[in-house]
Amino acid sequence: MPRMITTGRFPDVRMRRLRQHDWSRRLVRETRPSPDDLVWGMIVHDGAEARIPVKAMPGVDRLNIDEAAKAAVRARDLGIPAIAVFPHINAARKNPDGSEALNPEGLIPQVIQAMKAAAPGVGVVCDVALDPFTSHGHDGLLDPHGRILNDETVHMLRSQALVQARAGADIVAPSDMMDGRIGAIRKALDADGFQNVMILSYAAKYASAFYGPYRDAVGSASVLTGDKKTYQMDFGNLEEALREVALDLEEGADMVMVKPGLPYLDIVSRVSETFGAPTLVFQVSGEYAQIKASAAQGWIDEDKAIIETLSSFKRAGAAAVITYFAERAAQLLA
Ligand code: PBG
Repeated sequence: MPRMITTGRFPDVRMRRLRQHDWSRRLVRETRPSPDDLVWGMIVHDGAEARIPVKAMPGVDRLNIDEAAKAAVRARDLGIPAIAVFPHINAARKNPDGSEALNPEGLIPQVIQAMKAAAPGVGVVCDVALDPFTSHGHDGLLDPHGRILNDETVHMLRSQALVQARAGADIVAPSDMMDGRIGAIRKALDADGFQNVMILSYAAKYASAFYGPYRDAVGSASVLTGDKKTYQMDFGNLEEALREVALDLEEGADMVMVKPGLPYLDIVSRVSETFGAPTLVFQVSGEYAQIKASAAQGWIDEDKAIIETLSSFKRAGAAAVITYFAERAAQLLA
């Protein structure tokens, strides 16, 4: 709501008066992040090693199933409401169709079960998309000319979401940007008795340079050919984001997401203001890497940057933030 700002004038008014003390700054602070706002972005892998460092994301490891379960317990103890898991799949299990995504005994179903057994009160969010499973690194199926097939891909995504729901996922989160996938997934879930499984739609997802380190993390960087501009959004566009969000809400999304985060705060703000639906934001791998790299040089204070960026997301209207910093952030906010 636009409001008239009524204020007096200097020297009756001195804005710095309230900023004098730590206590008075705390007293008038408008937004503050809490552990309740965090979704922990976590990379898991299907190998035996407990942890494998991700080169482009210092401090983030790919976790095996046991480590992921232990992390879920830490999330519970830190008051982090939910974890979003992203898979690194052995190259031998990838193919052009990404059919490993539909394996009910695959990595993600096993991780969901292990996490739910270890910490049942922590929500598990699963990415619905084919890119970690395809030999070409795209989120969808390709026709013979290398074009992404929309409806055929949506058909796969429905099955992938069902596999996740059957394994116990609380939230399925389509990140592929195909048209019509939210409605198709909602129908498939309901028909299978999963009326209570939530959908978090990556509704306004931009074709972004800031996903670079993630593609290293899930092992799709080396295989990806071309870009994702025929399905992810053009970063010049705002009105289009509002249409994407409107469609996904109409198709049954419970929550919507804007991605990446910091460079897109205007989108977060407009979406949360316009629709009033829970709007999440993803502090993506490249944003994580930027902070880590400059902190490693001694150029910025990492902990302060974590809290400041989380506060910015909240200020812009985000309900919650998916972030690889979640564990550290929760410790700082405790
Ligand atoms: C793919 C997917 C991506 C991310 C989450 N799901 C990358 C992409 O679209 O290429 C990015 C996450 C990040 O950068 O942290 N479906």
